[in-house]
Amino acid sequence: MKLTAATGEAPGAAGPLSKTMAFAQSGGKEDIGLCKSVKITCISETSWFDGNVLMKNMKDAGGPQASQWIVDWDPENSGGYSSLIEVEGLDGSHHKFLLDTGWNNSFMDKAFEREGVPAMLKKGEIEFLYVTHEHFDHFFGIESVLRYDPQIRIIIPNTFYDEGYRLLAGAEFERSKAKNSIPYKGTLVKHDPAKIYRLYPGCASVTFDLPIPCRTRGEQSLYFNVKDKGIVCVTGCCHQNIIDFAEFASKKLEGGETLYGLYGGLHIAPVGPLTPEGEKTVREMGKFGFRKMACNHCTGVSAVQKMVELGYPVVRGSGRYGSPSEMYLGNGDVVLF
Ligand SMILES: [Fe+2]
Ligand SMILES: [Fe+2]
Repeated sequence: MKLTAATGEAPGAAGPLSKTMAFAQSGGKEDIGLCKSVKITCISETSWFDGNVLMKNMKDAGGPQASQWIVDWDPENSGGYSSLIEVEGLDGSHHKFLLDTGWNNSFMDKAFEREGVPAMLKKGEIEFLYVTHEHFDHFFGIESVLRYDPQIRIIIPNTFYDEGYRLLAGAEFERSKAKNSIPYKGTLVKHDPAKIYRLYPGCASVTFDLPIPCRTRGEQSLYFNVKDKGIVCVTGCCHQNIIDFAEFASKKLEGGETLYGLYGGLHIAPVGPLTPEGEKTVREMGKFGFRKMACNHCTGVSAVQKMVELGYPVVRGSGRYGSPSEMYLGNGDVVLF
């Protein structure tokens, strides 16, 4: 079983994915402004501890096309994905926001506590929660955020299924054990696919619309334009594929001829060994010339190993708090772009 796009379409093929990439090819480049720096703290990148258990849970519910809301996920195997992003503006301003919520509430509570997130949320220092996509490991942990700031502004891709909205509203899903006991009453912002939304000067969001396994649709990702460095691409799972994600920046963003940094899950070898197709992607992404690559989560240890072998500038980590390897940026580690 493979956790690739449900249609099996190649990136860029005719279909839902092409809408964002067609937009990338259209018209001129857009100016998203500049920022001074971006600091990313990996709160957690370990969404599951045993890929075989994860795949078995999915298989028992009918395979990758089964809805994530009816899979009987093993609660002993769930962690989550979440990062704290701090943007420094050229004017000296400082902004903080949260990227994704993680999955298992008790695991995420500890991870958030370790990084001081509850205090920041209570003080209103975290300006919004940016949810890349509604996958279990990025969104089911919503209560662990709302507990400290129930009204926080939330930005989602405008491709959520009904179940995602119901979880926000306070639903409980018995089989998948997804639950949120704090009905959300804040400002929900929805981003349409194939548009560039500027969040701050030098920080923009783009939604890639595509079918994703486990009843999920669309993923939004971030681009930062860091002065004197170049574009930094930040993603949750990068279900849209790293090649399209990077190419969008090269084609559509001013400054996109210099791709400086990369952070997040690249969904190349999420649960095991590197396939020939995965290796092809790793080799192809070399053409973008990223100078700082902090790939973790569903990039997969085997894919990062290949990047290291190819001499890519992989940012190393400390292998703490459940992260399985020091080879890449893991839980509690920080990268500055
Ligand atoms: Fe993920
Ligand atoms: Fe995902």
